[in-house]
Amino acid sequence: MLDPTSSTDVFVVRGGAPLRGTVRLSGAKNSALKLMAAGILCDGTLELGAIPRIADVPVMAEVLRGIGLGVDLDLANERCTIDASVEPDWRPPRDAVTRIRASISCLGPLVGRTRRARIALPGGDKIGARRIEMHVRGLMAMGAEVEERADEVEVVARELHGAILTLDFPSVGATENLVMAAVLADGTTVLDNAAREPEIQDLCRMLVAMGARIDGIGSPTLEIEGVDRLAPISWETCPDRIEAGTYAVAAALTGGDVVIERVRPADLTLPLLKLRSAGVVIEEGGDSLRVKAGDLDPVDFVTLPYPGFPTDLQPQMMVLLTQAEGTSRCTENVFESRFSFVDELARMGADIQIDGHHALIRGPAPLVGATFTGLDVRAGAAGTLAGLVARGTTVVRDVHHVDRGYADWIPRLQALGADVERVPASDVDA
Ligand code: UD1
Repeated sequence: MLDPTSSTDVFVVRGGAPLRGTVRLSGAKNSALKLMAAGILCDGTLELGAIPRIADVPVMAEVLRGIGLGVDLDLANERCTIDASVEPDWRPPRDAVTRIRASISCLGPLVGRTRRARIALPGGDKIGARRIEMHVRGLMAMGAEVEERADEVEVVARELHGAILTLDFPSVGATENLVMAAVLADGTTVLDNAAREPEIQDLCRMLVAMGARIDGIGSPTLEIEGVDRLAPISWETCPDRIEAGTYAVAAALTGGDVVIERVRPADLTLPLLKLRSAGVVIEEGGDSLRVKAGDLDPVDFVTLPYPGFPTDLQPQMMVLLTQAEGTSRCTENVFESRFSFVDELARMGADIQIDGHHALIRGPAPLVGATFTGLDVRAGAAGTLAGLVARGTTVVRDVHHVDRGYADWIPRLQALGADVERVPASDVDA
């Protein structure tokens, strides 16, 4: 179940136990939230399965209820139904919207369905600015008028027509918003330099199953021919490749042997290649991976939009490489402040030198338990991983970030034999 305990909890991690056993993972966070937003486009009730038990999901449900959609969320069974048979309101409630950045994904579908939207802007983030100028520029090229205020954006499209769009950068959020506006626009939209993450492919395939016309799914050029309505269907969220990569690192880092189920190995081509280059032994099954420790070697890696190495696995990979024999290099190309967790890791004994968006990781560095404050979801996961190999006790703080992206994180690690627990911060501060 989604952990109902307080966001001021901490994780207490005692290092040393190798992880062993089988873990079955969830549907992808970065798909599920967009599939829910796509419910806005559905002329009827959309039924979603494999919805992960993460904290962002109930907030997205609140955003959708706030515009009049009927949302039935059953997290115990990983299901969510969204009834949008009545046209939604175009002004999602600010309170819920500002609690999750993924709520910006409602912009495109609202413009597609109602031809207008007023939505609060997602705040900045510890991993870098989250700009939306590509989303806005695309909507304007499709005929919308856009007014950007300090903390919200208002879009009115008296007519919403197809357009030829080229993104400056394959932005995940911009690609999704523009696709979701274009599926109900008049005429054909060509979106070039589109992002092609597996979660975007999942969204596009679901839209096609609802009746949308989208060509080029999985390629950098999407061609979308607008239709009049999208019909209700049932859809299963694709597996979470970032969660799978995180558990793979956990297994390798602790000298363990873990079978990870509900994975699509093809979505993890580059992470698996880099893990193997680092000496990790990986057996691929149809929808599973078996990850066994080997002697860890240094590797160089560069984060890039898919199919490049995902920025969302960069902190976890850095933790792994602190234990490799030699010097590894990492270049972060997607978010400007994604190395902010490195200071925390350094306090545990990691030897990492940062120069702009490059990092040199020298290993093996024996890690020692300390307090680790994870300022975003992946940093919090990386702190937990570091604790699993550190000598002594690590206390991971600000764990509400981890709750946003990892379903059942602590119970799953415990089931694999990790010595971890979640306790109120007051227990360790006393
Ligand atoms: C999504 C994922 C996030 C992942 C990221 C990159 C969700 C909910 N989040 O975030 O986990 O790390 O993709 O894979 O799916 N940018 C601009 N202008 C824009 C749009 C983006 O400058 O109009 C910049 C951003 O500031 C960032 C980079 O492009 O530096 C990548 O952003 P984007 O691909 O849009 O990521 P998100 O959709 O925010």
